[in-house]
Amino acid sequence: ELGEHRHYMHKEIFEQPQAVIDTLEGRITQEQVLVSSFGHQAETVFQKIERLHIIACGTSYHAGMVAKYWAEDIFRIPCQVEVASEFRYRNPVVENNTLFITISQSGETADTLAALQQIKAMRQSQSSEHAANETNVPELSGISTLTICNVAESSLTREADMVFLTHAGPEIGVASTKAFTTQLVALALLLTSIGKVKRTIPESRENLITNGLQKLPNLIQQALMHEQEIIDIAETFADKQHALFLGRGTMYPIAMEGALKLKEISYIHAEAYPAGELKHGPLALIDENMPVIAIAPLDDLLEKLKSNLQEVKARGGQMIVFEDERSDISSDSGFKVVKATTNVGRITAPITYNILLQLLSYHVALIKGTDVDQPRNLAKSVTVE
Ligand code: M6R
Repeated sequence: ELGEHRHYMHKEIFEQPQAVIDTLEGRITQEQVLVSSFGHQAETVFQKIERLHIIACGTSYHAGMVAKYWAEDIFRIPCQVEVASEFRYRNPVVENNTLFITISQSGETADTLAALQQIKAMRQSQSSEHAANETNVPELSGISTLTICNVAESSLTREADMVFLTHAGPEIGVASTKAFTTQLVALALLLTSIGKVKRTIPESRENLITNGLQKLPNLIQQALMHEQEIIDIAETFADKQHALFLGRGTMYPIAMEGALKLKEISYIHAEAYPAGELKHGPLALIDENMPVIAIAPLDDLLEKLKSNLQEVKARGGQMIVFEDERSDISSDSGFKVVKATTNVGRITAPITYNILLQLLSYHVALIKGTDVDQPRNLAKSVTVE
């Protein structure tokens, strides 16, 4: 079953171009998103909603965090994102006209499922309390739930009002790779559909996004071609105990995802920071034993990131930079630079850069000799809290 691959994780990393093709299939045309792929009631629901609230765990939560940046920046839709285990115990205020989105590969994650059940219970009890006129609780209206899931027959798909399936295929490795990529594709389709229905984006933007998504399998393929360079860089981690991942904007959650993957499969302690936070504490950690991995797309924040990286360099940190061919972070020999992507847009960039970080954590784990597909203490599906 593994074919030429040593591990499921490696196989699943290389299946991503196909997973994207399969997830897009039947959901877009050359120029447009098909809103109906979110269900027959999608158009009516999207028309009414005023805000999004995303709830998930682990890697699926990171997909939600990327979507928050997209939702507000590109589509001008207010969006909150939360870890399910926090949401369910903090007695949240729920506002009218909110679309609650749960994201899960397995559809069985206990905390995500409990959060969804809680939202439904609140909707139910608040409207009956209001009807009975016993309290001052205002009536809740316009609450809908949608789940983005990779398993058609699962607890989450049974509970949610609307379901959108990612077509990543079975994911065996405990570390989530292709599921994450297809979750981001699903979120891009969802936001574009909402933006289209609510007219917060012009048609030209919808065309651009669909064109970009159609190019994504190819962009991922190109990213995968950098594997040998990443194998060489992975050597840097042979004797390291810690690593710091930096990004800005959507690359901040991608840095978080890169750090999670490295922790999970190589047992190296890794943290992610938004690069602008360096001065507020983590800069104190930097020395020659701390590799710093930065993601540097060609965007409005590049110049700011460059100066953050010079600060790291000045403290003796070892820099590993994944950048756009035109980003030109540094020709300094203290920087290990992978010129990995070009022509990526705001939606496709985080998805593409993440592929490089997946390969990095995989090859570091190989060097460390850990059990890549079954890391210690972890389960593929977390069905207990
Ligand atoms: O099945 P889910 O997407 O709900 O799982 C959530 C997390 O347990 C999962 O993403 C976990 O963080 C992965 N092992 C990370 O690679």
